[in-house]
Amino acid sequence: MEHSAAQQSLAPEAIRVDSHLDGTHGRSLADDVLDGLTRPFKELPPKHFYDARGAQLFDRICELPEYYPTRAERAILELRSQELAQLTGAVELVELGSGTAAKTRVLLDAMHAAGTLERYIPVDVTESMVRDCAEELTSEYPGLRVHGVIGDFERHLEHVPPALGPRIVAFLGGTIGNFPPGSRRRVLRQIAGLLGPEDYLLMGTDLVKDPRVLEAAYDDAQGVTAEFNRNVLRVLNRELRADFDPEDFDHVALFDPHNEWIEMRLRARREHTTVVRDLDLPVHFDAGEELRTEISAKFTPERLQGDLGAAGLELVRWLTDPDGLFALTLSQQQVR
Ligand code: SAH
Ligand code: TRP
Repeated sequence: MEHSAAQQSLAPEAIRVDSHLDGTHGRSLADDVLDGLTRPFKELPPKHFYDARGAQLFDRICELPEYYPTRAERAILELRSQELAQLTGAVELVELGSGTAAKTRVLLDAMHAAGTLERYIPVDVTESMVRDCAEELTSEYPGLRVHGVIGDFERHLEHVPPALGPRIVAFLGGTIGNFPPGSRRRVLRQIAGLLGPEDYLLMGTDLVKDPRVLEAAYDDAQGVTAEFNRNVLRVLNRELRADFDPEDFDHVALFDPHNEWIEMRLRARREHTTVVRDLDLPVHFDAGEELRTEISAKFTPERLQGDLGAAGLELVRWLTDPDGLFALTLSQQQVR
């Protein structure tokens, strides 16, 4: 399928799943790899981490003692979801980068209890996660409709169906922090474009704190995060017929205090050249050379307000966990 004609699967009527990942998705990986691996400082964008194995590793990261963001965000949702459901009166929840929707259930429970919940719209690039979560949630919440969108939230937001009523667009897990500042504001503006006057954005962001706590969260003792980081090389091996040996690379996680973000890198253990066969591209690594695979920005309230404001959004609620580790912000279109 060349052009992005949506595929609608045959499914029980409570579920509809559209896929927008046609040939253009493979091209986006190839473009990103060609662009990123030919730079003087090599880098890759993070959305390619999440194949089925990457998604499983991410689930394990969320359970690690060092990785506090998931627990902190869940704690906020547990304390404040009832208030969020009542304040917004939302009949539906759109979730960008929904993954397994584990924490989302806390919010769905509150909307269900408030008697307003009608529809859930998960948007994720990982097909299996959208499909599995549609099955699970329709059986957990009788009467709930799930309209899954398999796609890239940077490119396919126009395929999010029109609202049935007031809605919450959730963007959890600190995923916004994985974009560098310029694209972060572009992504936020696009998301703001999904909001009508009665709608809200609920966004999770990690906060600036002791660098030792931050670095441990991205370099755990069991090495799960290291495996997650190296997994992107396995994705390139499979999708673009590259010949990386993941064991040729060490996992590195460093807090950059100037930019206030964590950088994850893969550092070549020895000098070598790999070939990305589908691109006819030889890629040379010096011993010790690093490939940047992800940033994870940590926010201050000021920085977050600035980013929201630049996207035409206005803060309605600033919610943190009892330890002040993580923030959930509820915002709305600025009134002009
Ligand atoms: N929201 C979940 C998962 C966060 S992990 C949580 O808070 O735990 C990030 C998720 O976003 C993954 O499921 C990944 O597949 C998805 N994702 C990353 N980049 C994406 C993109 N550009 N478009 C759509 N989904 C994306
Ligand atoms: N959005 C998550 C974060 O920045 C993604 C993430 C968590 C992650 N742990 C990771 C990405 C480890 C790569 C490696 O915190």
